[in-house]
Parts: sequence; structure tokens; C-alpha cells
Amino acid sequence: MINMTKETVIEKAAKAIKKGEVVALPTETVYGLGANAYDKEAVSKIFAAKGRPADNPLIVHVDSLIMAGMLGVLNKDAQNLAQNFWPGPLTLVVPSKGLVPDIVTAGLKTIALRMPDNDIALSLISAAQVPIAAPSANKSGSPSPTSAAHVLLDFGDKFMVLDGGECAIGIESTVIELSKGTPVILRPGAVTQNMIESCIGDVLCTNAFAPNTQQAPAAPGMKYRHYAPLAQVTVVEGEPSSAIEAIKYLFDKDTKKGDKPLIMASRENKRFYGRRDILVTGSLENPAEAAKNLYSLLRMADEMFYSHIYFEAVAKVGIGFAVMNRVYKAAAYNIVKV
Ligand code: TXA
Ligand code: MG
Repeated sequence: MINMTKETVIEKAAKAIKKGEVVALPTETVYGLGANAYDKEAVSKIFAAKGRPADNPLIVHVDSLIMAGMLGVLNKDAQNLAQNFWPGPLTLVVPSKGLVPDIVTAGLKTIALRMPDNDIALSLISAAQVPIAAPSANKSGSPSPTSAAHVLLDFGDKFMVLDGGECAIGIESTVIELSKGTPVILRPGAVTQNMIESCIGDVLCTNAFAPNTQQAPAAPGMKYRHYAPLAQVTVVEGEPSSAIEAIKYLFDKDTKKGDKPLIMASRENKRFYGRRDILVTGSLENPAEAAKNLYSLLRMADEMFYSHIYFEAVAKVGIGFAVMNRVYKAAAYNIVKV
């Protein structure tokens, strides 16, 4: 891509999308693996490359409320949310108008729509003049990619990758179901329940901190095993000084056994762990840092073959709520409460 201006790179990517190819694109949440949402062959390449089950539908990315309105029926709540949070990390699940092939929605009568807050993504959709269906650009089983390098690690040079640097948010969008009765948050994200409720009133949130045992989860993606690092992750939560003591105790026990433990903790508490191996998640004051760093820290721990990760819990407020939802999943709900 040397010697190409931003415009021409986007034009080249838009041409690829129109030809039915797959292009990896940055968004403000995580990188996506995109294809023309109207083109069933193109979308099938995404499922094949990711190893994604056919019953897990994709999010369709749009560049405007108008494009969204062509694809789905946006009721008053949906329109309100779009007006307040788009472009941004909020995905609206609404009744589909049936314009995208079944492969995109996994045959559901609903469609997931999102307008990403990223100039490259928006320019690509506009230049391609079609909505872009895109899941996160990781192989099923790896953490979502938050840099172009992560995409390359999973897929090599199989696809054109638009490099937009590090994702500003770092965890996937909030998904809210608006097609039946009271709206339900299916996946928490940077747009929090409070933010949503201040806009459209009460909404429900499916249990964000327990394994999904329902027969048919509302978001099909929820039933699959999520990213599980090579290391066994243990979340330690409770009063800070007790949590730190517990983490040190567990770490030292593993070390004595000859295992290779790692601590993930806040910048403020780092000094309490002495010379033990540690990666800083972010500041206690700002859970957005932990969101931005989480997936790349988990990838790093895997690359260095740690056997155990002790994760100092982040407060479940603001985006911290979504961070802990992802961490609980990575830990397979292995939580130590002190
Ligand atoms: O931030 C994001 O949302 C990123 C970027 C690339 O936009 N995308 C992303 O896509 O995380 P993916 O495929 O990894 O997750 C999409 C989630 C899945 O849990 C899927 O089951 C759910 O959205 N979903 C998609 N369509 C749905 C529908 N019609 N009804 C219910 N859930 C749906
Ligand atoms: Mg994903």
C-alpha cells in the first residue's frame, strides 16, 4: 500500500467489496471482516475463513440511518437510539425487510444494524455503495482483533487489510434487541444500560455474568464457547487489599509447582505485586483503558505461553461492566471472590 493515498486505498478496497471479495476493516470497537451484505457468495467466504457456525448471524454495517432504514424496520426506540448513538458502538436488532440473503441473518426474521464511528469504515461503505456484513476479524476461538497486526496473525495475507491503527474502544459493540416488547441488551458494550435507558426508558439486560444455559439464546453468538486463552484465567474480585493478597498467594503457589503464572492488574496496584510477572490493564479511575487493552493483553499472554492468568477485577460500572462480561467468559466463569 506504499505510495497510495488514503483515498485510493479505500477505492481499491471498495472495488474488492463490489467484486465479492472480503476486506478487513477497522472500526472503533474491533476490526471486522467485511463483505457486501447483498452478496451471499461473498458472505459465505467470511463464514469459511472464520470457521463460524452458519447459525450465528452477522452485523450489517451501514453509513447512514437511511441505509439502515432500507434494511430493517426501525421503530421509535430504534430511531431514537440511532440518532443518539450513531455513528457508534451500538448494534440494533430490528425486524429485517428481507433484502439481505439468509446467510447474513442466519435465517432469522431480524437483522443486526450498526453505523460504526470510524472514518475508514464509513468511507468504505460509502465508496462501495452497499452495506457491509462483518463479524469481528478473528478466527472463531481467538480474541477479537484490535489492530491490523492481530488480523494478520489470524489470517496472514488472505485478505486486504485496511490499517486504521489501534481501535479506540477495544471491545465489541453493545447489541440490543428491539423487535419484541421491552428492549433487551444481548451483549453489553461501551454504550451502557444507563445511557440507553436515559434515551428510551427501561430495558432489560440478559445476565451478563453467568454462563448462558438457555436452550435458544437470543443472540445466537452467545451459545458458542467464547475465546478461551491457553492460560487458565481466574478473576479475583473483592475488597482491593484482600484481592491483591489472594492474587499473590495464588501466583506464588503456581510458581512453586513450576507453572508460569501472570498477573493482570491496575496501574495503581502494580507496585504491590513486587517482581511477579504482570501486565497492566489500565487505571482504576478509567475502565476504558482496560477495554482498549484487554484483547491485546490476552493475545500477549498466549504468545508468551503463560499457564495461568490472575485478573484483578475492574469495577462493573460504565464500560467496566462490558469488560468484566468478556473477562468472565475468557475465565470460563472461574471467579474467586474475597
Ligand atoms: O463491535 C462489533 O459489533 C464488531 C465490529 C466489527 O462491528 N462486530 C462483532 O461481530 O462483534 P460478531 O459477529 O463478532 O458479533 C455479533 C453478535 C453475535 O453475538 C451475533 O449472534 C449477534 O451479534 N447477532 C447478529 N445478528 C443478530 C440477530 N439478528 N439477532 C440477535 N443477535 C444477532
Ligand atoms: Mg466475534
